[in-house]
Amino acid sequence: MIETVATSPYDDQKPGTSGLRKKVPHFQQPNYVQNFVQALFDVVERPESAVLVIGGDGRFFNREVVAIAIRMAAANGYARVIVGQDGILSTPAASNLIRKRKASGGIVLSASHNPGGPDGDFGIKYNIANGGPAPEKITEATFARTKEIREYRIVSEEAPDISRIGEHRLGDLVVEVVDPVADYAALMRELFDFAGIRAMIAGGFRMRFDAMHAVTGPYAKAIFEGDLGAPAGTVVNGTPLPDFGGGHPDPNAVYAKDLIDHLMAPDGPDFGAASDGDGDRNLIVGRGIVVSPSDSLAVLAANAHLAPGYSGGIAGIARSMPTSQAADRVAHKRGIGIYETPTGWKFFGNLLDAGRVTICGEESAGTGSNHVREKDGVWAVLLWLNVLAATKKSVKDILEAHWREFGRNYYQRHDYEEVDAKGANALMDSLRDRLASMSGQRFGTLVVSEADDFSYKDPVDGSISTGQGVRIVFSGGSRIVFRLSGTGTKGATLRVYIEAYQADPAKHGQAPAEALKELIETAEAVGEIRRWTGRNEPDVIT
Ligand code: G6P
Ligand code: ZN
Repeated sequence: MIETVATSPYDDQKPGTSGLRKKVPHFQQPNYVQNFVQALFDVVERPESAVLVIGGDGRFFNREVVAIAIRMAAANGYARVIVGQDGILSTPAASNLIRKRKASGGIVLSASHNPGGPDGDFGIKYNIANGGPAPEKITEATFARTKEIREYRIVSEEAPDISRIGEHRLGDLVVEVVDPVADYAALMRELFDFAGIRAMIAGGFRMRFDAMHAVTGPYAKAIFEGDLGAPAGTVVNGTPLPDFGGGHPDPNAVYAKDLIDHLMAPDGPDFGAASDGDGDRNLIVGRGIVVSPSDSLAVLAANAHLAPGYSGGIAGIARSMPTSQAADRVAHKRGIGIYETPTGWKFFGNLLDAGRVTICGEESAGTGSNHVREKDGVWAVLLWLNVLAATKKSVKDILEAHWREFGRNYYQRHDYEEVDAKGANALMDSLRDRLASMSGQRFGTLVVSEADDFSYKDPVDGSISTGQGVRIVFSGGSRIVFRLSGTGTKGATLRVYIEAYQADPAKHGQAPAEALKELIETAEAVGEIRRWTGRNEPDVIT
């Protein structure tokens, strides 16, 4: 029976870079979830008898919200929902299902790499029919709707048991519970040379994949240990847990230190990788070398043609603005398009749909392609494996050869987490106030050639996004970018991105901290980070 339940609006349901993210207790407030889901159903485009995909990364509260979303879909005219078994779907697998099953959209439950558990983070994100994150016009309309919502619709019956694969019914709604891995694994088999990778592994190549107790465990076990024949135990922390085992499922140098330590050992595996809470990010480590996400994008773009799914070459590359310009060098040399977008995967959607780009990536450990409309951790690992199998080189050799061919973009990101939001905003305002007069200013040996607040006009639909981060470019092409994170749930996180280009192969062996020393000092001089944040050093350097 369909019930219409009276509710009152919350004023803080504004989706950020990647959907609505709050602490679990915040989501547990009365009708908090229902309001947001109803607002989505009220504003998104969907035909009569629409299909909706629902799934999440399995974090605490996932099951409850899946059940609410199913019951609300039944009361809001959907014909079918496709749900991952036990409510599990990695973000890229959800994107694939939306596309493959011609759904009008999907609800993805995740707070990505943020910790989970009763006091951890939770998130609800809507993806549109192309499989990608909802563009700003939809997230804004949703937010506007949440501020005026007065009622929501839900069926009174319980949701079916989603641990059983197959078709169930809830009133007129068909609830189809699917294996979360099957369709995704089938897509990967189409894109990559599984036989070649299998042969490499059978020949003694050793890898370690750290699923960080998050959603990629089942995907990685099925693909790496199943299809590709890697020995059992290759996938570590492979069981998804509601609190990620108390860990922080963010594959970076801090939280994936254990993986990195294994790869730094002289007798360590040949290849290591990790993914995040919802399976869209990746970390790639070779024996003795960590690959920065920006370099990974450039290397994958330069070598994608070695994989069957990209054998015809790639149409172009897109990167988010703070991502290093290593990919630009590949694009220029190969004569293909390069696009610089604001931070957030949603900005790649139009470029991918229009066929302007094939490969996209971000400094925030995201890489992906036109196979889905999300970044994809396991995909990135498979493309690396395919490149390694095809070239028979080590990760280190591939990276060093890449630098020799294209030059090296030294890069670091400095994060100041949970700083006072007022101070962080004041820092940004102060930079913006000085932008006009910055050009020509000298800091040590560095002279500012250009400074702006990045804005983007989408070349496909003409939409404009402003205030996307302050870029300070120095003569010679070095850059410092200041930006506030759009994904935090507490205070503000200041990100400072520092980049310098080095063409000379004799100088490619430096530590980034050393190569970037002067720029790092300049970031403090220009940004007055200490003054505005009260912090002497970043919490995390990636
Ligand atoms: C999410 C999005 C990414 C984006 C990242 C930026 O992970 O999916 O596309 O790059 O957030 O996060 P930030 O905290 O820097 O806003
Ligand atoms: Zn993620």
